[in-house]
Parts: sequence; C-alpha cells; structure tokens
Amino acid sequence: MLSETLARLDSAVRPLMMHLPARTAISIYSSMRPRFLHRFTSEVPPTYTPPLTQAQTLWGINFRAPIFNAAGMFKNGEAYYTVASQGAGAYLAGTTTALARMGNEKKGIKHPFAPYPHSGAASNWLGLPNRSHATVATILSRLTKTDGCPIGASVSSDPTQSGIEALQGLVEGMNYYLQANVDFIELNESCPNVPAHGHEIRTDELDAGLLERLEYISTKFIKTQQKNIPVIVKFSNDTDSGLVHAIVDVLTTLGFSGVNFGNTSTQYARYRNAINQSDVAAFDYFTKTFGGGLSGAFLKASSLELAAKAVQCIPTSTAQEFHVVRTGGVETAEDITASRTAGIALCQWYTGYFEQFARNGHGVYKHLFA
Ligand SMILES: Cc1cc2nc3c(=O)[nH]c(=O)nc-3n(C[C@H](O)[C@H](O)[C@H](O)COP(=O)(O)O)c2cc1C
Repeated sequence: MLSETLARLDSAVRPLMMHLPARTAISIYSSMRPRFLHRFTSEVPPTYTPPLTQAQTLWGINFRAPIFNAAGMFKNGEAYYTVASQGAGAYLAGTTTALARMGNEKKGIKHPFAPYPHSGAASNWLGLPNRSHATVATILSRLTKTDGCPIGASVSSDPTQSGIEALQGLVEGMNYYLQANVDFIELNESCPNVPAHGHEIRTDELDAGLLERLEYISTKFIKTQQKNIPVIVKFSNDTDSGLVHAIVDVLTTLGFSGVNFGNTSTQYARYRNAINQSDVAAFDYFTKTFGGGLSGAFLKASSLELAAKAVQCIPTSTAQEFHVVRTGGVETAEDITASRTAGIALCQWYTGYFEQFARNGHGVYKHLFA
C-alpha cells in the first residue's frame, strides 16, 4: 500500500535529509508528517489477528494483544480500522481538550517535529492540536469495534482554561466519551508542549493542582458513573522515581484504574549525551528553538524503571482493579517481554511503531508476534 512505500522510502532518505540545514530538515518533516498520516489513516490492510496467547482480560475488557498506539498518534479519532486490521491490542484517540486547538507554530513551522533517524528518537512541539472532546467523541461513537481491540480516549484539561472551568470542561469531556461507548479513558497529565501542564514531577511531593484535578475527577466522574469504565493517568517519563509510590497510592485511593509511565521527556542535557553525532545539529536546533518533548529510544530505560516500580507499589488489596501501562522507547518483542516480566500489563508505542512500520508496513503487529 502507498503509505508502506512512502515510509520505506522515507526511512532510506531520512539519514541524508537530516544533513540538510537543521531548520530546513525540520520544516520539511513537520509539513510531511500530517500528509503521510492522512494517507496512512485512509488505508485498511488485510486483517491480522494476534495469537490467542497474547490476549488478556483487564478491567473486564478483552485486549487481544498487550500493545497499542500511544496518545497523540490519532488525535481526532482517525485510523481505528487501520490499526484494528493490523492487529493492535487496542486503539487510543486524542489527546483532546474542551475547546478545539490549532496547536503550536513558530518560525513559520506548524506543529514542529524532528526525527532523529540515527538515534531511534524524535522531538515534537505540537501543542495538543485537536478538534475537542465533543467532536472526537462523536467520531468514536460511530465506529464499529473489532473484538479484542477496545477504544480508549486520551483527555486533558484545557490549557486555556483554569480553575473550576477547566475541571468542569474535563469531566464534561469524559462524559462525552462515556456516552460514545469508549472502553477506557487516559488522563494526560504530562504534555510538555502546552503552558501550565504538570509535565515534570520532580519535587518531593505531588503538585497541589494535580491532586485537586485527581480528587475532582474521582468525585465527579469515577465515583458517579454507572458503567465503571477505567480511568488511567499518564505521567512524564521524567517523573522522579521517588514519587511513584505516592502517585500509585493517591490513584488507588481515589479509585483510578491504572497509571502510565509515560510521556515525552524535556531532559535535553541528559539525552544530548545519548544522541548520535549525525542527529546533534537537528537536536540542538529543535530543543533551543522550540523545546518540545523527546521520544523514542532515549526513554526505554526510564519507562521500564518507572512502570516496574509502579507495579511494585500497587497495594495488595485495592477497591478496583489497577494496572500499569508502559510507554517510551518500546519497539521490539523483547521490550514487551521485559515489560511482562516486570508485571506491566500493557505497552503503548509511538516512535518505535513508525520505525517498525517503515520496516514491516501494515504487518507491524504480525511481525512483533511472529
Ligand atoms: C508527534 C507526537 C505527538 C504526541 N502527542 C501526544 C498527545 O497528544 N498526548 C499524549 O499523551 N502523548 C503524546 N505524545 C507522547 C506519546 O504518546 C508517548 O508518550 C511518547 O512519544 C513516548 O513514547 P515513544 O517513545 O514510543 O514515542 C506524542 C508524541 C509524539 C512523538
């Protein structure tokens, strides 16, 4: 299919493209990414069903595989049939917000994105562009689900709202998704690309704004909804591991159903040491001009460490079933095995998914479970 050919070609020329002046390369990639995605999301490949050994029931929901796309890949509810046919273990739409957002633009570059092809990594500073909770919930409500490929929605409080307005907008959005018959909700508490988002939790105590949001959602959504759909919370891969215990404690106490470690990193100085020399110019230009979030291979160790620690912190008796999700640097069957061994129930992938798509096309999940 065309998107497979495009991805293969791109993967071949990408290392050369990144030798162009950094601004030029980033400008080209930022404008090509949505075009590629548009093509990709319109394709429905022949159906592949993962082996039954990969399936598990979590929160009473059948996941036919332990891995699926991370949030931000299909911001507006696109491509369910594409990934369901590929064999994904679930589908995650969003992140959406109460009001539609255009996303970030700077120096003439809309939705800045840079691949680091020699390092298996990327940067993005998209700024949560999306069509709003209400619109995306309507799109999801019209989908016909494939068995074993449940639908999740990633939500965030709206960065342009504050106080009670932001909280109400968030819970209203969660209710739209409940009515749209989604199977689970992921609360994004960790986007580095919008102002006032709780991206880094590095101090020795949990942020007061975060606690207020979690308590509000617990009271106004989790404990009042009839269907009991799981709500998991996604934190940054930069989270101080010393806080994982407190996070799991608060989430289980408030009735949340899981935690995800996690989102992109802003530890530019730390990961600059890990970047391949051929990607340094683009890395420096991107992080100095936009900042943004780092994804991909950089995060493989931190996501495993944080998620594995979270598993250890789950109290032996919780009122509700609680599971840990790992996101960051997941790209191979070995990563899934390492996660499973650590007791991590589910993995999500983004950067690694597209690396594998360039190699294996729509057979991306088939290849993983071969
Ligand atoms: C282009 C891009 C857009 C993203 N948008 C979102 C988003 O809207 N919501 C979110 O929770 N995470 C978002 N993320 C973060 C990913 O979901 C994931 O947490 C991160 O990329 C680490 O996983 P990876 O190493 O497999 O890429 C985005 C990542 C990328 C690369």
